[in-house]
Amino acid sequence: MEGKRRRKKAPIIIGVVAVIVIAAGAGFWVWHEQPSFCNAICHEPMDAYVEGYYKDPSQMSYTHQVEDVTCLQCHEPKIDEQIHEALVWVNGDYEMDEDGMLATVGVRADKNMCATSGCHDMEEIVAATQDWGGEAGVNPHDSHQGYALDCSSCHTAHGQSYMYCNTCHEFAVPDGWAEPASTTAATA
Ligand code: HEC
Ligand code: HEC
Ligand code: HEC
Repeated sequence: MEGKRRRKKAPIIIGVVAVIVIAAGAGFWVWHEQPSFCNAICHEPMDAYVEGYYKDPSQMSYTHQVEDVTCLQCHEPKIDEQIHEALVWVNGDYEMDEDGMLATVGVRADKNMCATSGCHDMEEIVAATQDWGGEAGVNPHDSHQGYALDCSSCHTAHGQSYMYCNTCHEFAVPDGWAEPASTTAATA
């Protein structure tokens, strides 16, 4: 009797376990998509990034958060990079600066990250900054430096953006942006 019952239960138990594993997997995937996932375990180094994303209106990550863009919509998860990140984290193999940000930044925003369908359209971006600062022919998005410099040459997601052109020029600088010390001003 006892033995028989146990044998009948086996497929049920396997079925229940399978359902739990699948549900947990799906749950993990949904959780993984949430910004809170990033610093739930990895407080360091992720806290400052998550904090700025929710609380610092001067940051580009914040302006994206307001539009419901998640961390992973910019940081497209790739399994090899995630394993690498996990190993680096487990080994404590990273350095932080005094603001609690990673000292060495490996990620750069470029056309592939930003100018994709559903996000930004390069033609619209170019049009938005035509005759920048009221100067005919000046456009940070379309210049002798290339039609699309890496966006990270100027835009910073988790910190202060930087008017790269002004390493040589003296163009208008948006509010809150850093201006490089102009050493070799080419033209006004
Ligand atoms: C608008 C796109 C965008 C969003 C949203 C975004 N990031 Fe970033 N992230 C970037 C870019 C671009 C960089 C490169 C450095 C910079 O611009 O600050 C970066 C850099 C980082 C870095 C440094 C990694 C390295 O190896 O250089 C971390 C960590 C990070 N982001 C975490 C997050 C977390 C956590 C969130 C969500 C709370 C998030 N990011 C949201 C675009 C984004
Ligand atoms: C040489 C510096 C520079 C580079 C490189 C750059 N931008 Fe910009 N971007 C600016 C400036 C300056 C503004 C104006 C910001 C403002 O008015 O606050 C701007 C504004 C924008 C805007 C807002 C436009 C609007 O509708 O008002 C978007 C979107 C944008 N940039 C996307 C990008 C993307 C995507 C890239 C990379 C392909 C990029 N930028 C590269 C300097 C740059
Ligand atoms: C490494 C230095 C350097 C950088 C960085 C640089 N330029 Fe220039 N740019 C020059 C030089 C040199 C000239 C030629 C100046 C001249 O002949 O008067 C020039 C000329 C120009 C001109 C035509 C002359 C004028 O001032 O109207 C424009 C427009 C211009 N640059 C826009 C830009 C923009 C936009 C950026 C940023 C995306 C940029 N430049 C970044 C060095 C630079």
